[in-house]
Amino acid sequence: MTASNDDPKRAAAAAALRLVKPGMRLGLGTGSTARHFVELLGAEVAQGLDVLCAPTSDATRAQAQRLGVPLTTLDETPELDLTVDGADEIDGALRLIKGGGGALLREKIVAAASRAMVVIADASKEVETLGRFPLPVEVVRFGLEATRRRVAAAARASGADGELVLRLAACGEPFVTDNGNFILDCHFGALKEPDALAARLSAAPGVVEHGLFIGLCSGAIVAGPNGIVRRGAFDWRS
Ligand code: A5P
Repeated sequence: MTASNDDPKRAAAAAALRLVKPGMRLGLGTGSTARHFVELLGAEVAQGLDVLCAPTSDATRAQAQRLGVPLTTLDETPELDLTVDGADEIDGALRLIKGGGGALLREKIVAAASRAMVVIADASKEVETLGRFPLPVEVVRFGLEATRRRVAAAARASGADGELVLRLAACGEPFVTDNGNFILDCHFGALKEPDALAARLSAAPGVVEHGLFIGLCSGAIVAGPNGIVRRGAFDWRS
């Protein structure tokens, strides 16, 4: 990622930081955009800001720890005020594809535990129709081929078809999530029925979670060449 590509991500992160109030319980997302937010939050914490944060991945936990950001878990703090996270795609109804970084399961659990989820992104993440980005589906290792076929069948029933690729790590071995599972990256192309697909994937044995975030995102801060755009029903004055 070049510095120029990263600037809008940082601008979106900085705008999200203004939503943080003393005493808030925050969910911290994962990925390059969320990393900017955690870095900026860490600087505020160093200046005395009082917050308590639940990270969505081991990587974010490690970053927040390094910066001295006070951390909690959803066991200790099962309800959060606000989660700030990135996304791989955002459509007009604030439906998301997430999981490019492999953290979709914890990201969804943390978002669902939050009163509000605000997504921060550069304008390249906005799409008319979800699906240009391959949809990540987290699956248990047991029965992988049977689950792969079930995922393909669920997709076909929802008007989606394409290659399902087992994600590999840099070493060439299957990528393993923080929860010990594998990821199938589903190259479906445009998703005609994302809500139906999400429901079918959630019902498929062997699927732990999928990267369609529907009804979870209440606001999006999108940074583009012409500045910041805020979208969604989130109360931006809060
Ligand atoms: C992590 O699993 C993902 O859901 C990220 O939030 C998403 O991939 C966005 O990442 P970037 O901010 O790096 O584009």
